[in-house]
Amino acid sequence: MVRISVIPGDGVGPKIVNTTIRILEELSDIYNLGLEFVEAPAGDNALRDFGDALPKSSLEKIVTSDACLKGPVGETAKEVIVYLRQHLDLYANIRPFKTFRGVKTYWKNVDLVIVRENTEDLYRGVEDIGPDYAVSLLVITRKKTERIAKVAFDMALRRRRKVAIIHKGNVLKSYLYFKNIAYEVGRRYNGIHIEDMYVDNAAYQLIVNPERFDVLLTPNMFGDILSDEAAGLVGSIGLSCSANISEEYGLFEPVHGSAPDIEPDYADPLGQILTGAMMLEWLSYKKGRKEFMDASTHLREVVEKILEDGDTLTPDLGGRAKIYDVEKKILQYIRRKLI
Ligand code: IPM
Ligand code: MN
Repeated sequence: MVRISVIPGDGVGPKIVNTTIRILEELSDIYNLGLEFVEAPAGDNALRDFGDALPKSSLEKIVTSDACLKGPVGETAKEVIVYLRQHLDLYANIRPFKTFRGVKTYWKNVDLVIVRENTEDLYRGVEDIGPDYAVSLLVITRKKTERIAKVAFDMALRRRRKVAIIHKGNVLKSYLYFKNIAYEVGRRYNGIHIEDMYVDNAAYQLIVNPERFDVLLTPNMFGDILSDEAAGLVGSIGLSCSANISEEYGLFEPVHGSAPDIEPDYADPLGQILTGAMMLEWLSYKKGRKEFMDASTHLREVVEKILEDGDTLTPDLGGRAKIYDVEKKILQYIRRKLI
């Protein structure tokens, strides 16, 4: 069996996660993946129910599983996801953004990946607060910059061979250091076009010329901010998925939050469903099992088809469908494609 721990999360989380599980179960049956799901409550709901945003029993289920499928978490996100990224050393946050046919966007051919360092920078948690001041230390280390840079350059080799190193080295020594180490790593690769870009300019370029980007290598904080901007480029943050990975473990979650302002029945489940596709792909490499890759490709194709059809879209994409309409159609397409 391949055991998946599941964090249903808060707000729209439980519903989009349950839909995703039902879809993955269907794929598991078809492709004989042997997926097994164990619930690991975490987040605001867990804090309310168990007095702990990340109960020990949940952490135990997560660390003993092959991978984790996580929904969005509300106010306790720091105790859950920032903690898990550091505790499990999930140093690479991979966030692909690609325009889909059928989704209205200003730019038609966006296809970029943000490779975000996931454990240090301002997120390191070295902080102090007094009555008249607050300090958060920006930590960048050689080891952690080198390993994330390798992920970005390796990824570029499998894509369009371009890396933009995002920084703010004109003002902050720490980000200058990040840029220099990233170049050191990049120079060991052949045939990759490397550029570096100040983060403010990158934010601008993403609006006026996003098709130029392939891989963006970012420190933690800038990666967080540019991710939401990139999600806007592809039409809805409801479509965006991400992987938090190390060599040993993978945790997959949408880029969006728990969206307390959205009626859960009308939330867009596609971002969460695509995290499932990312998870299957990662498991395929991890376990050396091709059927996981086949299932992942199948699921992505079905999502693309739903978007292209355009008649079962949730309100974020201009439609009126509910989660269950989307789920039903995805399950239909998954089955139909096999006949
Ligand atoms: C993200 C989120 C998290 C982050 C929050 C919820 C802690 O915004 O994954 O992008 O800042 O990393
Ligand atoms: Mn974010």
